[in-house]
Parts: sequence; structure tokens; C-alpha cells
Amino acid sequence: MNQLHEEPTLVEGFPRKGIGNPPHVFEAPNETIKTLLERRTIRRFKDESVNPEYLDIIVDVGLRAANAGGCQAPIFLISQDKEMNQKLGRISNDLYDEGYYPVSSAQPSTACMVGLKNAFYDAPVVITVFTPQDWSYAQFDVGVCVANMMNAAWSLGLGSCIVSRAARTFATEAGKEVAARAGIPSDYEAQLHLVLGVPENTDADPHELYPNRVAWL
Ligand SMILES: Cc1cc2nc3c(=O)[nH]c(=O)nc-3n(C[C@H](O)[C@H](O)[C@H](O)COP(=O)(O)O)c2cc1C
Repeated sequence: MNQLHEEPTLVEGFPRKGIGNPPHVFEAPNETIKTLLERRTIRRFKDESVNPEYLDIIVDVGLRAANAGGCQAPIFLISQDKEMNQKLGRISNDLYDEGYYPVSSAQPSTACMVGLKNAFYDAPVVITVFTPQDWSYAQFDVGVCVANMMNAAWSLGLGSCIVSRAARTFATEAGKEVAARAGIPSDYEAQLHLVLGVPENTDADPHELYPNRVAWL
């Protein structure tokens, strides 16, 4: 378990010897690559709602993400209910038990132990992606959807942050009640949240890439 001010576990632990990285792309050849290269996690949001047209676009992009077997297994719960987002964000925050380390000084996270109370960072929109229980490709499917939505959000001038612990958050009585009220089938399991809104600022720590993450043949 990491302790405060320790580096994330993988920095020391992952075997990265003998492989390399490609040269960094300094000039994006198009807007899509620019979005992909420049997107950063945002955890500080203005108290403003998200343009509904933009939200529709983001959700559509998530629904159209690549998915295992073409089964379109992931389903989405979009919550703009302030009270509900506060309630579940606090539950998620209380469930955090993965140790503390400096994830970001520009956009501090729950893991930075800065006395944050709401793991959803008071974002006006919380998207929770669910998959059928025991779906073998759940984590892959959800990762692809959420990545697409984050990049779509960034390209529209919005900020977003992935938040973990969704399964445990929705396994609480409060979580079950919200899912049932929203009509999420009881045999679906929450996998990941994406919180989003208008960024208070787009400050970010330098994007240093760890070396030796790419092997070539
Ligand atoms: C699977 C996954 C889970 C994450 N969980 C959380 C989380 O619970 N809370 C949080 O604030 N950020 C979370 N993040 C965001 C990462 O901390 C962030 O992407 C990482 O620090 C890199 O920063 P960047 O997105 O600005 O490049 C998660 C990211 C991923 C991919």
C-alpha cells in the first residue's frame, strides 16, 4: 500500500528494462490527435451546468465506442441531480482505501489526501457506466467508452475525470436505490464513473512519460 508522498506502486514495480518509447509527437497533424495528446484530467469545476447539446454528443460518442463482440453491453446512467451526486460522491470518497500519493498538484485527487469530501469533485454531471454482471469484457468495454467520452468532452472545452469504486458505491443501499429509481436492471453492475463539467481551470502537472513502455520487434 502506498503511503502519503510515496510514488504510485507501478513506478518501482513494473519491469520496463530493455524497451523504449517512440519520439514524442510535438506537432499534432490534425485536431483529433491534438485532442488525444492534450487531454488532461480535470477535477475542479465551475458551478455551471453542461450545455445539453454537448452532453448528448458525449453520451452518443460513448454509446458508439468499440465494444466486445458488437454486443453493446455497457449502459449509462447520467446524473445531473446535484443532491444525488453529492451523496454518492461522499460515499465514494469514504470508500477510498488505496493509500495516498501525489497524483496531481494542479488538480488534486481523492488520493492526494487534501481533505476532499466528494470523490465526484462537485462536478455537475456524473456518468456511471454499467455492464451486465459477469460480462467477461466489462472492464475493456467500459474503458473504451469512458476514454471516448473524455476525449469528446475535452474537444468541446469540457473537463472530465474518471472515478473508480463505482461497483462498491452502487452496492450501498443509497446506490441501489438510485440505480433502481433510474431503471437500471438489477442484474447490471456499475463499473466506472466519468464526472464532467466546465473546468475551473485547465492547469495540469507536466505530462512526463515514464521511459521504456514500448517494445519493438
Ligand atoms: C481506470 C482509472 C481509474 C481512475 N480512478 C480515478 C479516481 O478514482 N479518482 C480520480 O480522481 N482520478 C482517477 N483516475 C484519473 C487518473 O488519476 C488520471 O488519468 C492520471 O493521473 C493521469 O492524468 P491525466 O489523465 O491528466 O493524464 C482514474 C483513471 C483511470 C484510467
